Amino acid sequence: MQAALLRAARQVSGLSIQSIYEAYPDCVIDVKAEQAALAEAEVLVLQHPFYWYSCPSLLKEWIDSVFEFGWAYAGGTALKGKYWMQAISAGGPAEAYRREGYNHFTIEELLRPFEQTAYLCGMIPLKPFLIQGARAQTEGSLLERAGEYALLLERLKEGRFPERHSSL
Ligand SMILES: Cc1cc2nc3c(=O)[nH]c(=O)nc-3n(C[C@H](O)[C@H](O)[C@H](O)COP(=O)(O)O)c2cc1C
Repeated sequence: MQAALLRAARQVSGLSIQSIYEAYPDCVIDVKAEQAALAEAEVLVLQHPFYWYSCPSLLKEWIDSVFEFGWAYAGGTALKGKYWMQAISAGGPAEAYRREGYNHFTIEELLRPFEQTAYLCGMIPLKPFLIQGARAQTEGSLLERAGEYALLLERLKEGRFPERHSSL
């Protein structure tokens, strides 16, 4: 699923794509290089599977080390005014992510710590791109969703931003 999304993203020209599990098999992040790449970007898209209602551990490590005190927040303004978006695949189906479902909360609710991370850094969170019910996807439906993702990335590249993700 993530591989299909990554393939779709790689077909969009002019994006700067970093696959952190490929780049950092030893889990040691090159903080300066990542900060330099972020400084050039207008939009940060974090593409990841949903793991325990959050992101995988290396992405958390990436945020912990790259969003440094004094650089990203606490007087640091390196990320201010940039857009933040998450592109997430989740195993649970859409109907599980509501009050009556077995996950009780919507994915947007579960993403609040990320949304607040963006706010603290002066970033603008956008509505996440979601593929729910990962296991129920067929090859055809996955291709279709990957195409939608590529289109969304094209739009972001052109400065056509989707709705903001805002719980405030
Ligand atoms: C460690 C782990 C934790 C997971 N946690 C969740 C979760 O909290 N919610 C959910 O809907 N799916 C969860 N899943 C399922 C993954 O999100 C799903 O398998 C993934 O998005 C599919 O992408 P892939 O085909 O690229 O692995 C989890 C899977 C693993 C391995």
